[in-house]
Amino acid sequence: MNIIKANNIACPLDGLPFTETKKQLICPNGHNFDVARQAYVNLLPVQQKKSKNPGDSHEMIVARTAFLNSGVYAPIADKFNDINYGLITGYQSQSICLLDAGCGEGYYLQSLLHYLELNEVKQDISVIGLDISKPAIIAAAKRGKQITWLVASNKQPPVLSGTVDIIFCLFGFPVYDSFFKLLKSDGKIVLFDAGPEHLIELRNIIYPTVNKSEPPDLSAAEAAGFSLYSQSRVTYTSKNMSKCQIMNLLCMTPHLYRASKVGKQAASQLDTIDITVDVIVRVLESGLRP
Ligand SMILES: C[S@@+](CC[C@H](N)C(=O)[O-])C[C@H]1O[C@@H](n2cnc3c(N)ncnc32)[C@H](O)[C@@H]1O
Repeated sequence: MNIIKANNIACPLDGLPFTETKKQLICPNGHNFDVARQAYVNLLPVQQKKSKNPGDSHEMIVARTAFLNSGVYAPIADKFNDINYGLITGYQSQSICLLDAGCGEGYYLQSLLHYLELNEVKQDISVIGLDISKPAIIAAAKRGKQITWLVASNKQPPVLSGTVDIIFCLFGFPVYDSFFKLLKSDGKIVLFDAGPEHLIELRNIIYPTVNKSEPPDLSAAEAAGFSLYSQSRVTYTSKNMSKCQIMNLLCMTPHLYRASKVGKQAASQLDTIDITVDVIVRVLESGLRP
């Protein structure tokens, strides 16, 4: 497998393709964006920001990196790699572009590239990881120099239309209209969402009542022109989660803000816990816009 550089990054101000120098991306209208020292590019113009520091905070990213590196979600990464290997090798085209929309601190993309290299995928692959959180992308940039890391939004991803084969959205915020524009005609979306039993033991501790919600329905995806291609589920129990893992898990999710004071106190007193992981995996295919 050859990892090739993504050549389909577009200017967030006018959508035109960039020319890349060592230190900058420059569009034909002269808009230019610096390549940061840590090897990422911030393509989120102020007019696309709803707050000063959008997305996950530095503290959430540090907690998520520690939690994911501890291996608790490795079976989720295994499933992610397996599904994508099947999709990628099923494409006839020699050159494949992958985009992780809301990549966080890059754990899943790093794992996938490693897996594709080990399994000697024949195609040329370009990989883009984007997230609206600058701390997330700074952390992600440490996970792989071959990946194009962008601070950007799923609402207006700075990528040329019709150039992406697969978009990943893991525990994220899909914007199906934008994704539809980016994908090639046989493109796919790979969605990972929490299932009803996900982290149920912890949720029972931190909330007075717990809703066992189904993953988000796909009506917005269907309205944008997608249909369900396959669905599967990853469920397992992570035994003896440590105090440190429990606290990182709380910090890396909105549970930290949503949980009651009493609930957080109860969680902080746990020494260990067995936790159910329940993830719904759906692959969507793009068809004709209805
Ligand atoms: C729950 S985290 C999941 C991160 C990563 N996919 C993972 O599973 O480790 C959701 C991520 O979406 C990012 N995010 C939120 N809104 C976004 C948007 N409009 N565009 C791109 N990323 C966004 C957050 O900054 C955060 O990193």
